[in-house]
Amino acid sequence: MDEHVTRRHFLRSMSAGAAGLGFTAGLTPRVAASGSSGDKPAILGGKPVRTGPFPAWPIVRENDEKAWMEVLHSKDWCRAGNGHFTTNFEETWARTLGAKYCVVTSCGTTALYTSLNALGVGPGDEVILPPYTFVATLNVILMQHALPVFVDTDRETFQIDAHKIEAKINSRTRCIMPVHLGGNPVNMDLVLEVAKKHKLPVIEDACQAHTGEWRRRRVSTLGDLGCFSFQATKNLNSGEGGAILTSDSALHEFCKSFQDQGRGPAGAAFAYARQGTNLRMTEFQAALLLQQLTRVEEQSRVREQNAQYLTKLLREIPGISPARMYEGTTRNGYHLYMLRYDQAHFADLPRARFLDALEKEGIPCAGGYSPLNKERFIKETLGSRVYRKMYSEREIAEWEKGNACPENDKLCEEAVWFFQTMLLGPRRDMDDIAEAIRKIQRHAGELRPQS
Ligand SMILES: Cc1ncc(COP(=O)(O)O)c(C=O)c1O
Repeated sequence: MDEHVTRRHFLRSMSAGAAGLGFTAGLTPRVAASGSSGDKPAILGGKPVRTGPFPAWPIVRENDEKAWMEVLHSKDWCRAGNGHFTTNFEETWARTLGAKYCVVTSCGTTALYTSLNALGVGPGDEVILPPYTFVATLNVILMQHALPVFVDTDRETFQIDAHKIEAKINSRTRCIMPVHLGGNPVNMDLVLEVAKKHKLPVIEDACQAHTGEWRRRRVSTLGDLGCFSFQATKNLNSGEGGAILTSDSALHEFCKSFQDQGRGPAGAAFAYARQGTNLRMTEFQAALLLQQLTRVEEQSRVREQNAQYLTKLLREIPGISPARMYEGTTRNGYHLYMLRYDQAHFADLPRARFLDALEKEGIPCAGGYSPLNKERFIKETLGSRVYRKMYSEREIAEWEKGNACPENDKLCEEAVWFFQTMLLGPRRDMDDIAEAIRKIQRHAGELRPQS
């Protein structure tokens, strides 16, 4: 069985976490923690630690409905021309983050795609990225017919190991794309230092890091461009949606124009400044984002407090290592709560069985990403007619030689994820998570699949 998270598994886990509409965060029902009614693991037929759901997602209130209806009745659903809500959200989000400009897009992938175009990344160029990320970070590089150059992961933080970036830079490198995975900021001091030394622009993939901060500055505003996703599972969500942040007026002008078919600054219907495409956000999405945004700070505070408490509990369990944060992190965006599982402390219970046992105890979870750098489709793309026209066999062979990321391979075998919605409830939800893990550990020897 493939124990890595699939989109379906991920969504199943999300809906498990988001099931049970009608329960609010503070009222989540739960069964008594184990010990009080027998300790038999739920996977062996015992009573689960938890039978109630974690907080539902997304949260919909009257203000969301009102804003949505306002757009509906305005009949201005498309932003072309001016776009009242889209423009308002762009100004608000830029101000919130401390950037000069924001351009909204149809999704996070198109925000990254637009950013690469803004930097002129194309065939023959190399782009540096981590292997521990969602496939979109890679896909946009391949869409430009550039070469993705993976830099291994720091397993302790789940982030790109910024110490290893410089060794991957050569005359073809055009850009560095760090990803603040799970909301946990990358070591931006090191990224910016090496970028400055080699005069390389930085695109921050902040798609999972809406409230992340590095030395009191919001992530996405540290590099040349920063990108967000507002897809349904994200901490700020409008079903789909994306945004690009920058403080560079030329990059802003490019992005604004590119996502609107290359129209000029005046936005005139048939006056084009460049080649572009349609990646526009709708007025509906922006109106919803403006309302959802009113809750982001409070939700983020609850997640941070719960995560801090959970980390304290989990650090006491041998074999469980919560993701560490770098010293410069002043705020973790907690899109995911990530930890490493060491089966040696669980009577050699394989991770897949640990995850199943945890789910049965009523704790939604996932094993996270599989090694992106080893995806078969990359080799297929690099072997395609278009790539073969642009890159010599020697160049592709060299790329393959440098493609190993052994630390990331290990991480993909030991990672465990909990989802942001699970951090939105009362503190006792964290007690349940820790108790379920302790219960599995107590019984780990009995849970090993019989051979
Ligand atoms: C790290 C990362 N980058 C990019 C994306 C792409 O965003 P979207 O799904 O909005 O296109 C995502 C979304 O899941 C992501 O998690």
